[in-house]
Amino acid sequence: LSRRTFLQGSAALGGAFALGAGVAARAGGAPDPQILTAQFAQVQLAAGGANSKVMTYGLGEAVNTSMPPVLRMRKGEAYAARLVNRLDEPTTVHWHGLRIANAMDGVPEMTQPYVYPGDHFDYSFTPPDAGTFWYHPHCNTLTQMGSGLTGVIVVENPEDPAFDAEIVLNLRDWRLGAKGQFLAPFKPRDAARGGTYGTLRTANWRREPAYEAPAGGLVRVRIAATDVTRIYTIGLEGAEAKVIALDGNPVGTPFPLDRLDLGPGQRMDLAIRMPESEGASVTIGNFRGSHPWSIASFRATGASLKRDLRDIGPLPANPVAEADLSTAKPIPIELTATAEHEARPSICGSLGYTFWALNKVPWPGDTPDPIAPIEELTRGKSYVLQIANRTPHAHPIHLHGMSFRILASNKRSFLPPPTDTILLLPDEQAEVALVADNPGDWVIHCHIIEHQKTGMTGYFRVV
Ligand code: C2O
Ligand code: CU
Repeated sequence: LSRRTFLQGSAALGGAFALGAGVAARAGGAPDPQILTAQFAQVQLAAGGANSKVMTYGLGEAVNTSMPPVLRMRKGEAYAARLVNRLDEPTTVHWHGLRIANAMDGVPEMTQPYVYPGDHFDYSFTPPDAGTFWYHPHCNTLTQMGSGLTGVIVVENPEDPAFDAEIVLNLRDWRLGAKGQFLAPFKPRDAARGGTYGTLRTANWRREPAYEAPAGGLVRVRIAATDVTRIYTIGLEGAEAKVIALDGNPVGTPFPLDRLDLGPGQRMDLAIRMPESEGASVTIGNFRGSHPWSIASFRATGASLKRDLRDIGPLPANPVAEADLSTAKPIPIELTATAEHEARPSICGSLGYTFWALNKVPWPGDTPDPIAPIEELTRGKSYVLQIANRTPHAHPIHLHGMSFRILASNKRSFLPPPTDTILLLPDEQAEVALVADNPGDWVIHCHIIEHQKTGMTGYFRVV
């Protein structure tokens, strides 16, 4: 694809939301790396409130006082980024959900060295799948993500259906005091339970932002739950919508959105048909718990485009290999609380507690002395992970580097497309299948970061 068609494609999506910077790919050569500078910034997060000293990413060396940019890539096209560290502690970037080479995965000690303040690290890869993904550090993660370092990745596919607008929503909370200062990132009592919640809920770093979208038009909304704790139950009021992809992978048959859970790390792509009448408003809300609240709203503008949701068929599938269930080897994985309280030291920050474990082994995931892998997988072979949640809390379990398909569960009837993150409900037992087609060491962990960093982490070695 030429740069010209790419730019045309981007322009067609304009209107509702400032799209992230495009990828400057030179025809036939290596792409120019995007400079991604991790930095501090003073940002007013609560309307009328004081400034907070947040962490963000900026493109280039320039100061950025807004949320990390939406990074746009293309399925099957080379991408490169140079992480420049202008923080005062080591960091890395993990490309959540992208099935790329292990050396690019961003897990310090395991796949790459720490990137110390003043240093940089070059990432380059070709995303094999189109969809909505995200990026974040994998070092001192509770503090760094909690301070702002979570951004959305859009991997475009020229074969995707045409929408009249696109809106990207990065959902997350902040733990702030009255003077805008960051509160302690967690409470041990909560870390040993469902996790510690923020005090300010935002979408795209704003409380209940409102966007405009063409009346009667079809809008692609890409939602990423990047909070360190919160599980959302997404619903919509004021328009019809179809779910077209979950966790980056297209659903076989788009279905109407009613209420759908979205755990930390997960994504949801919706096709929304805006109301006909100018000024009519559509609200995306969180319907979890007894007090639903509004996340963001979209206001219809202009004369109706008279589009129809039926214009949107299934998105083209991603090339995720199907496991061979006749030869797949079962691997039990138990999620449990643990009584061991001695925490391991880490350059990437230790929370000082151990509350959780995978298969009875607690590990925070980024210590200089890794544990043994949960299992050594043979490249190309199929496996069935039998994941049993032996706790009364939900755990979004994320596997790096490979996607898996949920085969069965004692708690759900709807089986989503292949994913990188499964939200295990309390006492859920699920079987998920994968082909070990990506060599290297791949961590698997709970994406409630307090759970991850207090023990609910392990890894597979694919050889
Ligand atoms: Cu989204 Cu190990 O991470
Ligand atoms: Cu968890």
